[in-house]
Amino acid sequence: MHNEQKIACRFDDGEAIAHRILAQQSDNAGRAETLPADAYNSDDFYRLEEQKVLREDWLFVGHLGQLPNENDYFTLDVVGEPLLIVRKGEGVRVMSNVCLHRWVPIVSGSGNASVFVCPFHNWSYDTEGRLTGAPSMQQAEGFVRQDCQLPQIRHEIIAGMIFVTFSATVESLSERFSELLPVLNKYHLATLQCAFTLDYDCPFNWKMAVETFIECYHHAGVHRTTLEDSFPGRLTWIGEDTPGWTVCHQPLRKRGELSEILTAGLVPFDGLEEDDLRRSDLYLLYPTCLMSLNPDRVTINVILPLNKSMSKWHRVVLVSKESAAREDFPATVEQMRNGVLTIVAEDLEINAAQQRGSRSQLARPGRLSHLETSVWHFANYLKRKLAV
Ligand code: FES
Ligand SMILES: [Fe+2]
Repeated sequence: MHNEQKIACRFDDGEAIAHRILAQQSDNAGRAETLPADAYNSDDFYRLEEQKVLREDWLFVGHLGQLPNENDYFTLDVVGEPLLIVRKGEGVRVMSNVCLHRWVPIVSGSGNASVFVCPFHNWSYDTEGRLTGAPSMQQAEGFVRQDCQLPQIRHEIIAGMIFVTFSATVESLSERFSELLPVLNKYHLATLQCAFTLDYDCPFNWKMAVETFIECYHHAGVHRTTLEDSFPGRLTWIGEDTPGWTVCHQPLRKRGELSEILTAGLVPFDGLEEDDLRRSDLYLLYPTCLMSLNPDRVTINVILPLNKSMSKWHRVVLVSKESAAREDFPATVEQMRNGVLTIVAEDLEINAAQQRGSRSQLARPGRLSHLETSVWHFANYLKRKLAV
């Protein structure tokens, strides 16, 4: 008997992919399957996601702990928009980092400054984005320097976490996160300090990064010699399907030692219960903010999609003031950074392979384990955004 089949070539049709996603069921976790593989390989669908998901929701960009002093700043490109975030009093200014002259990003990296000078023709801006200097522009008719200011971006701060949106209509975050706030407060999120940040390229679709972070089913495969020992994937469980986020609870193995979850050199957060000390919870705050709450450190990651198959990972690691004040803190940071890099290398390799496999014309939606219900929750979120 022959088992031959014609392997058809798919067209890149974003709307058709969206319709297939919308036709997938959202009622029964036991019947959950992945999104269509095309959703990870289509320029057209990526454009749709930019419009309906990424630009129509709140995107985490950083934490106040990265900007402890007045006029501290950092920069970040978010769905094609270079942004400049500057500490101002209790809050921040978030503005376009694109020069009003001929569009060069004015500043890069992070630091402290009271004036930002564009490297192309030296136009200068103050920390509120007002144009304070524009050399040799006297003959430009009708040009009024005093009327020029960098576009300001809508943003909100929740427990020290800075979120931005390009939408004028998406609802405020305070209501969405009202139930999450007590959890964030338990980890003292608003007052944490930045231990270090880490950026790296991800040669795969942004959704693969998000989905892998939020399930531990892959520990036994990808992290079998690292995470799986202390944090066996089979012991994890997924929270409820809520509109704003999903969570994967990740307990320390039974009879595991606290030294397996705590970092030598860090002080555990005040007021945690016994149970919290033995657990590390992974949150996805839709659509791109990935947070892990550990007993002595909080990591917040943002996935910055670049195109259908390239993303950037921006990681912010936060600790208590007490931890940061310890003499051995620089050595602790080095140790944490190395630990992170080991795990990151394992995930990067598998997700790059997944991207390659997903390009196959034979790749079909795959069934999901109950340990991956969070992946299905994320698909349900996408459906809600795509349906609008
Ligand atoms: S592009 Fe910035 S000064 Fe010309
Ligand atoms: Fe992983």
